[in-house]
Amino acid sequence: MLLEIQDLTKSYTGPDGTVPVLQGISLSLAAGEALALTGESGSGKSTLLHLIGGLDRADGGRISVNGQEVTALDDAGRAALRREKIGIIFQQFNLIPSLTVRDNIRFQARLAGRDDPAWAATLIDALGLGDQLAKYPEELSGGQQQRVAIARTLAARPALILADEPTGNLDEETADRVLDQLSRLVSEAGTALVLVTHSSVLAARMSRQHHLSHGCLS
Ligand SMILES: Nc1ncnc2c1ncn2[C@@H]1O[C@H](COP(=O)(O)OP(=O)(O)O)[C@@H](O)[C@H]1O
Ligand SMILES: [Mg+2]
Repeated sequence: MLLEIQDLTKSYTGPDGTVPVLQGISLSLAAGEALALTGESGSGKSTLLHLIGGLDRADGGRISVNGQEVTALDDAGRAALRREKIGIIFQQFNLIPSLTVRDNIRFQARLAGRDDPAWAATLIDALGLGDQLAKYPEELSGGQQQRVAIARTLAARPALILADEPTGNLDEETADRVLDQLSRLVSEAGTALVLVTHSSVLAARMSRQHHLSHGCLS
């Protein structure tokens, strides 16, 4: 299994006391599987993605990615795992403003030691970014920036992609097209995908669907 989660728990403590968010999540995902994660706003979807990506720490339970136990790694170990195995696509794109589209796309692949110009060219073509390569992120539309973020993630050939409402601020038609490309590229590259979406239509297009509610998965 590429991703294994056992009995994961997480709560946050704020001024009003402790709020349990995840109350015993277990899940396994194999390479090539695409899982849609739905749930109401505030149900803990982003929290779960952050824990899988090692961006935050669980209170209890275990997560392993590609055989490595995320929950047992220190900060440096989790950063290395993210760099080498995990691709994260957030809604806010997080492109590097000082780099051109071409360099944004190749940057993470270089960090991961997997810069592959031919693969990058395939992605640029599939995502329709060929005319944008010399531009900077601020010169692109939201939809174009989103496609650059997806190309950048796939270019690094991560074993696991975590996508948090990646098409949330695109119009429906562009979102559909970007998602088609993402799923096709995921299945071609044999990557596993966890896609957070509030859309049941998008969720239905993934090979597996899970719903997060009251801290539990169904
Ligand atoms: N860093 C944080 N500190 C305190 N509470 C948080 C933090 N992050 C998330 N929460 C709370 O945890 C719950 C789940 O949030 P989140 O994972 O963002 O849900 P979703 O992505 O499903 O909308 C919410 O009640 C939210 O307010
Ligand atoms: Mg969220």
